[in-house]
Order: sequence, then structure tokens, then C-alpha cells
Amino acid sequence: MKFVSIVGARPQFIKLAPVSRALRRRHQEVIVHTGQHYDDRMSSAFFDELEIPEPDYNLEIGSGPHGEQTGRMLAGIEDVLLRERPDAVIVFGDTNSTLAGALAAIKLHIAVAHVEAGLRSFNRTMPEEINRIVADQVSGRLFCPTETARRHLAAEGITEGVEVVGDVMYDVLRQVRPALPGRAERMFKSLGITPGEFVLVTIHRPANTDDPEAMRRIAATLGELGMSVVFPVHPRTRKLTEQYGIAWGGQVRLVDPIGHQDMLALEQAAYRVATDSGGVQKEAFLLGVPCITLREETEWPETVEAGWNVLVGSRPDAILAAFRRPVPPAPARNPFGDGDAAERIARALDVWSPTV
Ligand code: UD1
Ligand code: UDP
Repeated sequence: MKFVSIVGARPQFIKLAPVSRALRRRHQEVIVHTGQHYDDRMSSAFFDELEIPEPDYNLEIGSGPHGEQTGRMLAGIEDVLLRERPDAVIVFGDTNSTLAGALAAIKLHIAVAHVEAGLRSFNRTMPEEINRIVADQVSGRLFCPTETARRHLAAEGITEGVEVVGDVMYDVLRQVRPALPGRAERMFKSLGITPGEFVLVTIHRPANTDDPEAMRRIAATLGELGMSVVFPVHPRTRKLTEQYGIAWGGQVRLVDPIGHQDMLALEQAAYRVATDSGGVQKEAFLLGVPCITLREETEWPETVEAGWNVLVGSRPDAILAAFRRPVPPAPARNPFGDGDAAERIARALDVWSPTV
């Protein structure tokens, strides 16, 4: 069969890598990059490191308000789909590229498969929540990372074509894990940090970055920790933190976005991870590092239920209390599958007869 895989943002490149590899062993795949992320460190670095084939199309949509960005993606993807006429389209996660890919395909009566289906934060002010709901509604095959995701779909009446395959990011993590200690050594030297004695931070959600007071509260609280903080800064956050004139304390080290293996190596060696990223919460859990989530809800409730993640928003007292928590007991099970999600997706697609 012929598939078009549509990606555009950093976490989607990571999710695409194992799926593309498994898919290409038996099918034809065309990769469309919408250009939602375009800085080398947010985009091409991931294609190189994860050995993802060069995109067949880069629509170079870039940044913009939601309607404009998604609309331009819709038009660009429609052109590609009319030219390529695939049997089905594969979309990943919950970004505007996911929404545009799913909508463009279904309007042309091309079936959609959604990788990472069924996640819900139940917060409809998050752009990702709308993207997920729409993508799931129009998808014919829905690949869930967890049982919780399957239950969310069932609660919305979606039961056909649903399969729990595990998490494709765990596939990647499992594959690169042996290389992490070597990576870590290099990072410790270049950043001047000691393993187990630094906090790794990422922030990019609108709830934190679009609200200068939230960002100021987080900056002030991180400055009070009395420990080194390594903060690879998302370009959105870089822009806004400069615009607001936020002062990050002396022990908070702002660095440019880093490669995936270096990021995993830092996550694994950190005393604690503090983040509003979806992927980073999950990776911290899988690497056995307690996570402090700078949000009020999560799409990964299993990590909270296991005691390895705490939701603190941007509330200073809650953040500081979370840093004082002891390391919880080892989780009883891994809710994210066996690290073979991509292979299971490819096998499911082998026997799929895509129809709309
Ligand atoms: C997007 C996704 C979010 C995901 C995140 C992963 C949506 C609505 N949001 O958020 O779900 O968690 O990617 O990182 O799809 N920018 C650059 N260079 C780049 C990319 C972005 O400078 O290569 C800056 C621009 O100022 C841009 C801003 O970052 O306006 C936001 O980028 P955008 O892709 O719209 O959303 P993200 O915040 O990256
Ligand atoms: N990541 C990375 N370098 C960084 C920051 C994040 O490789 O500087 C990786 C991280 O390990 C995870 C993914 O990017 O695999 C998460 O992406 P992001 O936080 O941008 O998006 P989200 O998961 O919140 O949608």
C-alpha cells in the first residue's frame, strides 16, 4: 500500500522515526513535513539523528496564528494528496500539523490512521485537545499508546479500528538507551554539571509562556531551588522570555534546544525533571526520574497514579513541595507497552483495507 505520513513539529519527528522504519519494510511511504518547526535544532537535527528519510515534501508553512497556520497547511497537504493519491494518510500526536493532515485527507475521502490516539487532557483551552478530538473523530485506525487512551475513545463512542499498541516514543527510548551513559559524560563536561545534582527543565505550553506572570513565578521558584538547573529553551519560550524581560536566577542555565539522545541522557541523570512537555513527562517516567509537571492536568495520568509525576501548574508552593518529595517506590508496571509499538502499527496496517 501507499501511505503519506504527515509531520511538522519536534515530537512528531521522534514518533515518525520508528513507524517509518517499520512501514518501509513492506509499504511505500511518502513523508510530508509541513514546516511547522523549521529551525535546524527543532527539525533537521532530528531527521539526521533519528535517520529519518528526507521528507518528500516540505511545505514550509512556518509559524503563525492557529487559523492561518492550519489553513495554509490544509491547502498545501491537499495539493500533495491530490498528486500522490495514497491509500491512507498517517498522522501523529496532536499538533496543528496533525489536525491539518487529518482534515485534508478525510475531505478527499482518504482514510486516516492516527498514531497516539485517544489522549485527553479534558482542557479544551489547549489547542492540542481540539486537534486530538478532531483527528480521532475522522480516523479509521486509531493506535493508542495506553489502555487509558482506549477508554477515552470508548467514552466518545469510538470503538471501531482502535488498538492499544504501546507508545512509539518508548520504542525510540529502548533503542537508544545503551548509548545514553556515553552521551551523558559529554554533556556533564560541557555543561559543568554533576549527575544527580541538577534539575532539567523544559517549558513551552501557552498556559506558561503566554502569561508573563506564570513565567515569572516559575523563574523565581527555580531560582530558589539552590541547585543547578539546565533549561533547553524552546524558541517560543526564548522569544517570550526576552519580550517579558524575565530574569532567570544565576543557577538556571538557558541553552538552545538539544538533540534527542542528549536530552534523554540529561533526563536520566537529573535529580528531578520539571516540564510542561507531554513527551518529557513520559520519558522521565520510563527513565525512572521523578517528574514535576508545570501544568494542572496531564495526558499521561498513569505517571501520576504511579507516584512518579506531580501536577503543580505554576504555583510556587506546589513546585517547591514537589521538589521535597522523596523518590517514590518503583512502579508496579509499565503502562506504555513493550517498545514494539511501531512494529505492531505496521502489522495492523498490513491487513487494513482503508475505506472512508
Ligand atoms: C507546537 C505544538 C505543541 C507541541 C510543540 C512541540 C501546536 C498548536 N502546538 O507548539 O502541541 O507540544 O509544538 O514542541 O501545534 N518557533 C521558532 N522556530 C521553530 C518553531 C517555532 O522560532 O522552528 C517559534 C515561533 O515564534 C512560533 C512559536 O515558536 O510562533 C510557536 O511555534 P508553533 O509551532 O506554532 O507552536 P509550538 O509552541 O512550537
Ligand atoms: N526534546 C529534545 N530536545 C529538547 C527538548 C525536548 O530532544 O531540547 C525531546 C524530548 O526528549 C521529547 C520531545 O522532544 O522526546 C518532546 O517534545 P516537546 O516537548 O517539544 O513536545 P510535546 O511532547 O510537549 O508535544
